[in-house]
Amino acid sequence: MATKAPARVYLDYAASAPLRPAARARMMELLDIFGNPSSLHAEGQAARMALDDSRRTLAGALGVRAERIVFTSGGTEANNLALRGVMAVSSGKRLLVSGIEHDCVRATGKALGAEEIPVDKDGLVRLDWLRDELAKADVAMVSVMHANNENGVLQPVVEIARMCREFGVVCHSDAVQTVGHIPVDVDKVGADLVSFSAHKYGGPRGVGVLVLKPELEMVATMTGGAQERNRRAGTENVAAIGGAAVALQEAMLNMETERSRARQFGEQVCAAAEALGLDVVGKASPCVEHVVQVLTPKRGDDVVIGMDLKGVAISQGSACGSGKVKESHVLRAMGYSPDEAGRAVRLSWGWATTEAEIAAGVAALGAVVS
Ligand SMILES: Cc1ncc(COP(=O)(O)O)c(C=O)c1O
Repeated sequence: MATKAPARVYLDYAASAPLRPAARARMMELLDIFGNPSSLHAEGQAARMALDDSRRTLAGALGVRAERIVFTSGGTEANNLALRGVMAVSSGKRLLVSGIEHDCVRATGKALGAEEIPVDKDGLVRLDWLRDELAKADVAMVSVMHANNENGVLQPVVEIARMCREFGVVCHSDAVQTVGHIPVDVDKVGADLVSFSAHKYGGPRGVGVLVLKPELEMVATMTGGAQERNRRAGTENVAAIGGAAVALQEAMLNMETERSRARQFGEQVCAAAEALGLDVVGKASPCVEHVVQVLTPKRGDDVVIGMDLKGVAISQGSACGSGKVKESHVLRAMGYSPDEAGRAVRLSWGWATTEAEIAAGVAALGAVVS
């Protein structure tokens, strides 16, 4: 008997993933712990213990010491803190940011006068260009994401971090699309700062993490409190942080199974796209398994709306807030034309995605684009 198509199909995990039940259960427990973790009384200390416990759980899942973790309000804030916090002590030296970063890094970089590191047609950062710039000895910091959020292409961050060390330059990597999806050994990656966000791997929205090298010189950007070892002022969201920690623990425990399912789904989506004659972006490069970006013959926003009407949630290459066709800056950086960059859509999946959802998703895509 054929499996019944699900009522709604959610294929936008790269935007935000559903909450894992274990994370929800932990959050519900912690919501009743109402003390302020910075208060000295018993209620405050109960919250402090819960927070310390979550920090240890999360650090253990990542394989780093708990002191290296700074909790923020999300990936956006973690990236802002990384760039602004380091550049504030950079003595006028330059910031280099890749041309395919998420807007929270790009816009922050722009505000700090950053120059763009070019990428090649396969979406990979130009290491030759970067090496030449680093050799000029006037660069303070480099920021290159681990995996791109539109097409999933993995950047050679180990090599980039090694080059930065060679030239004494601080290296940051936005690992929002990799942590909880593929193994990320922060020490092996070797970047001085790595940021990520809980809602991309089944934790709650509104929790970000910045993992720092202990000796790193930087300043806080959110000031007015000694929380997070003076690196991020503001009362911590104890319940959400607890959910973030438990979700990461579960993601790491189940990673092999979840990854092999994600790989299988990716193969199915790519095969379907190719059968429809749609170009898969970044297919010549190493990629994370849970994201596929395709070029369609129609405007990306029309495809997203068409899919939504058929009950399938996907997204455009990048968010559109203006009503105009938004070209993906990532595709433009890779050398695609403005027209092509306005015709991209992204499908992404994760821990709760089923075979039936993928089948319904590709069937809807076929109907909408043809
Ligand atoms: C690569 C990347 N960096 C940063 C962010 C921002 O994270 P948050 O939504 O937690 O602020 C996102 C979210 O889409 C992302 O994909």
